[in-house]
Amino acid sequence: MTQMTSVQITGPGGPFKVVSGAVPEPTPNTVRIKIQACGVCHSDAFVKEGYWPGLHYPRVTGHEVAGVIDAVGSGVITLEKGQRVGVGWHGGHCGHCVPCRRGDYLGCRNFIVTGFHEDGGYAEYMIARSEAVATIPDALTLVEAAPILCAGITTFNSLRHSGAKAGDLVAVQGFGGLGHLGVQFANKMGFHTVAIGRGQDKAALAIKLGAAHYLDAETGNPAKELTSLGGAAVILATAPNSKAMSDLIDGLGVGGKLVVLGASADPITVTPIQLIGARRTIQGWPSGSAKDSEDALNFCALTGIRPIVETFPLEQAAAAYDRMLSGKARFRVVLTMK
Ligand SMILES: NC(=O)c1ccc[n+]([C@@H]2O[C@H](COP(=O)([O-])OP(=O)(O)OC[C@H]3O[C@@H](n4cnc5c(N)ncnc54)[C@H](OP(=O)(O)O)[C@@H]3O)[C@@H](O)[C@H]2O)c1
Ligand SMILES: [Zn+2]
Repeated sequence: MTQMTSVQITGPGGPFKVVSGAVPEPTPNTVRIKIQACGVCHSDAFVKEGYWPGLHYPRVTGHEVAGVIDAVGSGVITLEKGQRVGVGWHGGHCGHCVPCRRGDYLGCRNFIVTGFHEDGGYAEYMIARSEAVATIPDALTLVEAAPILCAGITTFNSLRHSGAKAGDLVAVQGFGGLGHLGVQFANKMGFHTVAIGRGQDKAALAIKLGAAHYLDAETGNPAKELTSLGGAAVILATAPNSKAMSDLIDGLGVGGKLVVLGASADPITVTPIQLIGARRTIQGWPSGSAKDSEDALNFCALTGIRPIVETFPLEQAAAAYDRMLSGKARFRVVLTMK
């Protein structure tokens, strides 16, 4: 039987382990993907460190998967061998529960997260459910496409549903994997874009990627500065730091919305007074479905948006993950396969 390399997390808080095993066979309604690239998302920490309840180990994580279909299971009619495809956070849904029947696949009661509940992309091959597969336009290489499958779709999809209109002041807080794509999407969607980061070293790049202003959260007061720019219609908060999000709420304008993407277990603190007078809201947003991924990928093909990446070979997944955690990566670490 043909063998493949994958990188397993052995248990909550355990190390990454490079293992060799049989290439899996597709089951009904799934396809097998020969993976070429997989982004390392900060959310992989939920599996690595065991923060997500009820997971089973060993587990191959990774939910920014890009590759080529190399085998198709029975019952799959919309996908074929040789197609360039990706899989994101959306690993599958049941299609039968009430949210699914309403078309709200992200609300599925039996939602499967790629690389959490089933094995993901830190491997040479993976099995993906057909409803979780997005096709990748030719304009993007598979390395470029991988980060769009989570960092890209999450910022694209949350921004397009945020209610902000062309010309509105939109701030993207956190200038990492999600943030550097969020700034590009906000700019190309026609928003008056502000990037909020820490330190000055990312300022020039934020401006180059489309921010009209860069605010340094370390030395300045971003909420005050947003207010002096007229108040933000939307703040897209990607930094996994609830205190930093709380500090931004006063920078929202009338009817402004804090869209929470950064996933921390700590509470966001806000007083009713901060919300009532200016009719401000706080909303969370989870990534999106495979269809949303296709929309994000096609938007990148149309507008020239691309992630900035650092690549590591699959076998060096542990170093790649540490690089992501260090905050030094510019800007998305991507694992590549032979
Ligand atoms: N909602 C969703 O569906 C969804 C999807 C994907 C990811 N996420 C979550 O989104 C978060 C970000 O993920 P990522 O992959 O983009 O992580 P990342 O690449 O590690 O980037 C996080 C960025 O936040 C910055 N940051 C941290 N604290 C900050 C602060 N106080 N002020 C300004 N910037 C700050 C960091 O900057 P420094 O370099 O200065 O440290 C870093 O650039 C994670 O919590 C992840 O789990 C959520
Ligand atoms: Zn992710």
